[in-house]
Amino acid sequence: MDLSIFGQHMRPTTAQIDVPRTYDSHMRWVPKLGDVFPNFQVAHGDGVFDLYDWADGNWVYFFSHPALFTPVCTTEIADVAAHADELASRGAKALNISRDHAADQTRWLQDIERLFGLNIDFPLLSDPDGTIASACGMMHPSEESTLCVRKSFILDPSLRIRMISEYPMNVGRDFEEFLRVIDALQATESNSLVAPGGWMPGDALLVHPYSLTEEAQARFGERLQVINGYLRLVHPKTKAA
Ligand code: BEZ
Repeated sequence: MDLSIFGQHMRPTTAQIDVPRTYDSHMRWVPKLGDVFPNFQVAHGDGVFDLYDWADGNWVYFFSHPALFTPVCTTEIADVAAHADELASRGAKALNISRDHAADQTRWLQDIERLFGLNIDFPLLSDPDGTIASACGMMHPSEESTLCVRKSFILDPSLRIRMISEYPMNVGRDFEEFLRVIDALQATESNSLVAPGGWMPGDALLVHPYSLTEEAQARFGERLQVINGYLRLVHPKTKAA
């Protein structure tokens, strides 16, 4: 329709997004940063797995994968298992979920342990109906209709969601990145600091953009390096300090 008779273009005054109507049917709870992760129970081994009981005050790396006996998923499970000590040293636990059947998972895990010479000591939950996977936004029907995508959550000890990531079916994750995020979250927990891009443990942190330089000066003294009003480095304590 030509609206030029109104003398101006019909420019929206606020942002708008045309979500395809079919997407609306998928809009239920979408996990968001800061949400407390909902508890869930699922049959596991001879008993019932309860997220809150199992997490028990630890940090949690909760991740989904598409399918057992597939190459990328195999390497991802092995990668997490190979970092068991690093997870434990951070007070963190790994938890996996997929729509695979439990009986088949056991054979696959034995395969991975044999192939990589590893012990897999974290739970792989079986959710064949996708009840939990759907609620947690692990199903992306436009990517794949029946399998989970590679979704990862980091939960803090109060079960609050602190990181969410989604990887496509054909790209495996690098678990060291998730360890880095746990390190960065732990390093900035209660000190008004933030971690810069590419931060690694031992690197300088930055003063939170909404914190005053005077306060940072009082707290961090000579460790504070002010480059400008928004780039204020806090160097790590030296061994002597
Ligand atoms: C894999 O893990 O290799 C994989 C699984 C599903 C689709 C594509 C790749």
